[in-house]
Amino acid sequence: MRVLVTGGAGFIGSHIAERLVRDGHQVRIVDNFFSGHRENLAGFADRIELVEGDIRDLALLTRLCEGCELVYHEAAVVSVPYSVEHPQETHDVNIQGTLNVLLAARARKVRRVVFACSAAVYGEDPELPKRETMAPAPIAPYAVEKITGEYYLGVFHKLYGVETVSLRYFNVFGPRQDPRSPYSGVISIFVDRLLAGQVPTIFGDGQQCRDFVFVENVVDANLLAGTVPAAAGRAYNVACGERTTLNQLLAILAKLCGREVKPVYAPPRAGDIRDSLAAIDRARSELGYAPKVGVEEGLRRLLEHERRAR
Ligand code: UD1
Repeated sequence: MRVLVTGGAGFIGSHIAERLVRDGHQVRIVDNFFSGHRENLAGFADRIELVEGDIRDLALLTRLCEGCELVYHEAAVVSVPYSVEHPQETHDVNIQGTLNVLLAARARKVRRVVFACSAAVYGEDPELPKRETMAPAPIAPYAVEKITGEYYLGVFHKLYGVETVSLRYFNVFGPRQDPRSPYSGVISIFVDRLLAGQVPTIFGDGQQCRDFVFVENVVDANLLAGTVPAAAGRAYNVACGERTTLNQLLAILAKLCGREVKPVYAPPRAGDIRDSLAAIDRARSELGYAPKVGVEEGLRRLLEHERRAR
């Protein structure tokens, strides 16, 4: 089938696109290269249709949805701090862009749209694990934008019959995650520092935990979300369902690197939530999702990939 991946040159989008190509699908990518990179497509660039363009352009999206059965909507401004600084711009991309994807999908009779939502929608309610039945409590423009996108999906499903699935990603990590931005995920930063022989900084006491999930598991969840009939109109947490503290994370990385690492401890980062953990029962029972690559194995694969790339 023909599939459109918005943000297909980005970290997660490129992994989804690569798997779709490998599975024999015709893949069309639209990316404005705001945070995507052409290098992310290395190895399969000759087997995709790549369009440089912006999801704020409804006419373009409508053309790109022509003949597509499925859309994976991964394009977004993905940074919480950036959304705090530039709420108008992130609103335009993350809300209007998502509405455009839905409008284009409806107009071109796309069967299903799968949306990259975020654990950010849960906000700072300390109750763990996070379940999809909990009320969203956004505390940043980014979170407002992601939950609004999810609400639009639900409405397009109910009103217009577009099949929609929202995936709430927790802390995704893996190859192609850019470590060089101040908004980068902690794992990409730690790996970058360790391989450069530098010392990582832990903000706070390191006892805060996250539910880290290797990107291949996220790709699995997306493929299931694209195919399982009962998923239409639903939202799912995508995570490992396990907690790892920052101190544990660094200990695993140090072990995999075969050396001792003494981090620098700095004051906690303003605005950070303390702990995060997902319940993934709904994705397990309804999608048949199971995280195949655990955190340690994912970290081993990431290190191997980064060592080869240097
Ligand atoms: C993540 C998401 C964010 C989402 C939020 C809420 C990423 C990159 N960000 O933020 O979009 O809104 O979940 O669910 O996935 N840390 C260090 N040292 C560093 C960098 C970070 O100790 O050099 C710490 C942070 O203070 C934090 C933890 O590592 O306690 C995780 O940070 P980060 O990877 O930025 O992700 P979240 O804050 O969970």
